[in-house]
Amino acid sequence: MVAALLVRAYTGRLERPIGLRQVPLSTGRALQKWKVRPNIERESKIDHFPFGDPLLTNNDGPTIANEESFTFQKIQKIFDVEENRKTLSNAEKRGDIPEAVRTSGNHRKWFISQLPMIGQHYGFMQAPDSPKVAVIYSKKGGVFKTSIALNMARMAALHNIKVLVVGLDDQTDITSALGHDFGLDDDMSVEEADKILDEELSLADLIDDDDDDDLTVRDLICKTDLPTLDYIPEVPELDFLEQEIQKTNLRDLWLIKNVIAPLKNEYQLFVLDLGPAWNMLTVNALMASNILISPIECKINNYRNLKFFRKKIEKFVKNTSSSFSHVFIPVKANDKKKLNRGIKKKYQQSGDCVSTCIPVSGQVEDAMAMKKSVVEFAPSSTVSTVMKQTIKEIWHEVLESPDNPFIEMPHYQRKSSENSATI
Ligand SMILES: Nc1ncnc2c1ncn2[C@@H]1O[C@H](COP(=O)(O)OP(=O)(O)O)[C@@H](O)[C@H]1O
Ligand SMILES: [Mg+2]
Repeated sequence: MVAALLVRAYTGRLERPIGLRQVPLSTGRALQKWKVRPNIERESKIDHFPFGDPLLTNNDGPTIANEESFTFQKIQKIFDVEENRKTLSNAEKRGDIPEAVRTSGNHRKWFISQLPMIGQHYGFMQAPDSPKVAVIYSKKGGVFKTSIALNMARMAALHNIKVLVVGLDDQTDITSALGHDFGLDDDMSVEEADKILDEELSLADLIDDDDDDDLTVRDLICKTDLPTLDYIPEVPELDFLEQEIQKTNLRDLWLIKNVIAPLKNEYQLFVLDLGPAWNMLTVNALMASNILISPIECKINNYRNLKFFRKKIEKFVKNTSSSFSHVFIPVKANDKKKLNRGIKKKYQQSGDCVSTCIPVSGQVEDAMAMKKSVVEFAPSSTVSTVMKQTIKEIWHEVLESPDNPFIEMPHYQRKSSENSATI
């Protein structure tokens, strides 16, 4: 049924004039029509077309002309599919996976928006039973936090897991890496650009008392080329938000109350990307988390700081009565240097690190510039294999992570509200 409808939809779309539209990525108020629609509409859309309704995408998503497509070999590499081509074509005939389009040489290709259904059947990431919040944080900049957040979010979304990325760094790196287009161009006047930037909505608008329009967190959500991946963009006003949160009576639970709790039935994974500063946004993110993921460089200074960082997190957990897993990802080992090798080994033996180490790689950087995970961008590369292995290990920890005691808490009441003063 699904496959049949898809064929009709795609055939229809192929007959349209090609290439008239660019990949639609939300640009604030101007393009709000592309933002997530209310729950009911969205639910019905998901029921029938878990990988996005192609009939609707004419007004609401990528067109066939500009949507990326993937061969069987590429899909096999992305998801580590062991089954052979025949298995996939049988699954296609049964309607278990969406029907591919045939190229002129009768080769099959699947569009990126169809990949989540294939990932769900043949991939390596299983959906969690309850929504999980993964926070990417370490006290150092440039250690691939945002890159790991992007790779994990895209890979989960490619496995048909509904993902919301919440950018919490005023440097706005993950927002750019997700392809956010602020709608600016070089031919604009500064005044025009200012106006557009002023109208850009963000979490800071949720707390702004002066603004009495009925803004909800759903109005902030933007869509990507993947039907299963949405995000809340970052703006420099996050700094304002950070200060304002301190004045609210919830303080450390503001993010749970205003973002996670209202959306917890719509998303299965929240990825929170933070900057290196330890501030009220960090505290809020940790209070909301099931798991903290910290990349760590294989260098002597990081190695020295690790002990204090672990202690800081342990103290935080104790003072706030929170509970979340903490896992480290070694990055940037230079295997030519004995000290680097030794540090990597120490990390890997420590029990709270993954067994891999993400290397410095131009392919990861290029993938990020192309708004992709390295697994999609260079599926045959060594670094793609390392990234997949890292994500597999992290994902195991995500699935095993404890429930968050605050998310279900009625009215967000705590035993002691002094806690936040000590963190
Ligand atoms: N594996 C990698 N190898 C080389 N450069 C990378 C890699 N991952 C990310 N980068 C680049 O390194 C810079 C810092 O990475 P980023 O993920 O933004 O770090 P952080 O969020 O910790 O500050 C960015 O320019 C990014 O494109
Ligand atoms: Mg970053």
